[in-house]
Amino acid sequence: MKTRNSRISPSEITPREIFMNRRKFMVGAAAAGVGLAAAGSVLGAFGPEKKVMAANTLQTVPSQWNGKGLQETSFYDITHYNNFYEFGTSKSDPSKYAWKLKTEPWTVEVDGLVHKKKTFDMDALMKLSPLEDRVYRFRCVEAWAMVIPWVGYSLSKLIDAVQPLSSARYVEFVSVDRPSQEPGIMNVSIPWPYREGLRMDEAMHPLTLLTVGLYGQVLPNQDGAPVRIVVPWKYGFKSPKSIVKIRFVKNQPQTTWSLIAPSEYGFYSNVNPNVDRVQWSQKTQRVIGAPIWKQLEPTLMFNGYGDQVASLYKGMNLSRYY
Ligand code: MTE
Repeated sequence: MKTRNSRISPSEITPREIFMNRRKFMVGAAAAGVGLAAAGSVLGAFGPEKKVMAANTLQTVPSQWNGKGLQETSFYDITHYNNFYEFGTSKSDPSKYAWKLKTEPWTVEVDGLVHKKKTFDMDALMKLSPLEDRVYRFRCVEAWAMVIPWVGYSLSKLIDAVQPLSSARYVEFVSVDRPSQEPGIMNVSIPWPYREGLRMDEAMHPLTLLTVGLYGQVLPNQDGAPVRIVVPWKYGFKSPKSIVKIRFVKNQPQTTWSLIAPSEYGFYSNVNPNVDRVQWSQKTQRVIGAPIWKQLEPTLMFNGYGDQVASLYKGMNLSRYY
């Protein structure tokens, strides 16, 4: 039987005004003191309603955008132009096949160099923090970009809860690996499961989002349901989907794309117009869904988030540590 994600028809797509009104409602509700309850019972999120309630709205708009390119990408484009190789290599494969992934029940095992190893189910994850709406620029290494209203909270909340040891210098993320539900795993030859990693200070940065929804709804499967990481100043492949493990480690972890092509996909992979990749120049980017005359725009260093994150890389040669 097909589930909801394969059947998103245009009528189900939340029009922008309704979404904005709902946001206002959520903020109002938070002010009235029910926001936390709503966030706490994101049960609703995983029940029949499939909504996620954000207690706060945090518009994260980099100053360098200067009012340009803020138009949120449509729900349709965000859910029909995806990279999720577990379901195939074409951009449309995830929207066709990701419904096969069973996302309930779901657990995320947190282990490695921490005082409090714990396996979180989704309710336990939701209880760690109120949710926030965060509109982020999202930039793929293939030189396309979107503006996505994610729902989640800073990953640092989870990290604080498990109390890493001082020897933990990196965080590794592992995505779900279920060949029977993810047809791409059998057909695409990359070393599964999909793995990503961040340095501890990157993982603790408030912009790094533990993400459970977008446009006020639970994450559609093709975007990484039920929980993924989003790191807005890095290329999209640093934002792993459908994660089942978070591990705290001493040494820089191996990551999927740098295993496949280390010269193309460095561990850091901060968005950087000055470091081209073999296949794609990074000087410009194409904004998915924008009118044709606005589609091509210059790439911004750190995807425009330099004010907030450049200090993490002080003194580092970013052409060498690409
Ligand atoms: N996570 C997993 N598990 N598998 C993947 O293939 N693709 C990455 C990243 N996370 C990928 C993944 C890449 S290359 C990109 S650009 C983004 O997810 C795409 O996210 P989106 O489809 O939600 O826009």
